[in-house]
Amino acid sequence: MTQTVRGVISRAKAQPVEVVDIVIPDPGPGEVVVDIQACGVCHTDLHYREGGINDEFPFLLGHEAAGVVESVGPGVTNVEPGDFVVLNWRAVCGQCRACKRGRPHLCFDTFNATQKMTLTDGTELTPALGIGAFADKTLVHEGQCTKVDPAADPAAAGLLGCGVMAGLGAAINTGAVNRDDTVAVIGCGGVGDAAIAGARLVGAKQIIAVDMDNRKLDWARDFGATHTINARDLDPVKTIQDLTDGFGVDVVIDAVGRPETWKQAFYARDLAGTVVLVGVPTPDMTLEMPLIDFFSRGGSLKSSWYGDCLPERDFPTLISLYLQGRFPLDKFVSERIGLDQIEDAFHKMHAGEVLRSVVVL
Ligand SMILES: NC(=O)c1ccc[n+]([C@@H]2O[C@H](COP(=O)([O-])OP(=O)(O)OC[C@H]3O[C@@H](n4cnc5c(N)ncnc54)[C@H](O)[C@@H]3O)[C@@H](O)[C@H]2O)c1
Ligand SMILES: [Zn+2]
Ligand SMILES: [Zn+2]
Repeated sequence: MTQTVRGVISRAKAQPVEVVDIVIPDPGPGEVVVDIQACGVCHTDLHYREGGINDEFPFLLGHEAAGVVESVGPGVTNVEPGDFVVLNWRAVCGQCRACKRGRPHLCFDTFNATQKMTLTDGTELTPALGIGAFADKTLVHEGQCTKVDPAADPAAAGLLGCGVMAGLGAAINTGAVNRDDTVAVIGCGGVGDAAIAGARLVGAKQIIAVDMDNRKLDWARDFGATHTINARDLDPVKTIQDLTDGFGVDVVIDAVGRPETWKQAFYARDLAGTVVLVGVPTPDMTLEMPLIDFFSRGGSLKSSWYGDCLPERDFPTLISLYLQGRFPLDKFVSERIGLDQIEDAFHKMHAGEVLRSVVVL
């Protein structure tokens, strides 16, 4: 058995997305069909449309989603029909060398549903990040579903599924930011602002936000930045040092992912400080620096995959903090849109007018 629903696909490189009928198979072993309630528009969806991820068109876009489990396949024990879930794109395998060493957040072999969703003519779809949630329903692996408190607004909850978790986790998991720490965040989009909100949540004493857009800096202040720097007007490294008695901060999070921002992050640290790279560079980017600086400044240089999160551990906790009013997840929702407004949302994202446009269904 199958069912036909609406979905947003990217058929060919750099072409506008289309709302079409897609075919969802009944869930097989370990699989789950989720009735999608909300899905955020992320930069990665645009990267797929531009052919920046791979060439496996057509893509079924959307991956920051929350919804209700509609049906489950044989052997599924993690969730049951009616559960409110947030989807994740790193279902850990439990078998690889990272998992076996007790480091499942680093799992080297994450997986997705086995069966394919298709167009009505049978053409197989590639779901973005193995999810594909700009659709009335989608098919995922049970490990991609994390049950959370249904009192949460789906539009806010779904954002934990990608950018917000990546940024928050970059600060508190990868960067291990703690109370008393000084922190700088370079790039204040959804990811950077989540890092700022995370640093505030755990009690960082100073949080310096860097961006090139004053509107973004205003929002960053709202999420907890104690100081802001517009990198068009001021040198971020010098200004961060000036704000910290000349020393630099304990942890710098690069939420842009360019050679120049990573260098700023490197030099804006105090001695033995930490750099966390969470922004994703493109394959052509390179870096040249004196090796002696790596030695003499010490500390640790890290990358953050999905905020080093464990969805089963982190999503329910963050939803709980949100419902208690301690984590402002809903502030990331700039607007609510329909399935047919995703191209507009891409334009607004490019123009810096939104943190997240969220499709609600
Ligand atoms: N590591 C992960 O698992 C993960 C997950 C999700 C997203 N990401 C990545 O995180 C990055 C940020 O995502 P986002 O959704 O916040 O994007 P975004 O486009 O909304 O935000 C980027 C921000 O950086 C600012 N910026 C650009 N160049 C700058 C510069 N030179 N100096 C200072 N600020 C600058 C922009 O003005 C903007 O506010 C992207 O590269 C995205 O791919 C990583
Ligand atoms: Zn694994
Ligand atoms: Zn994303």
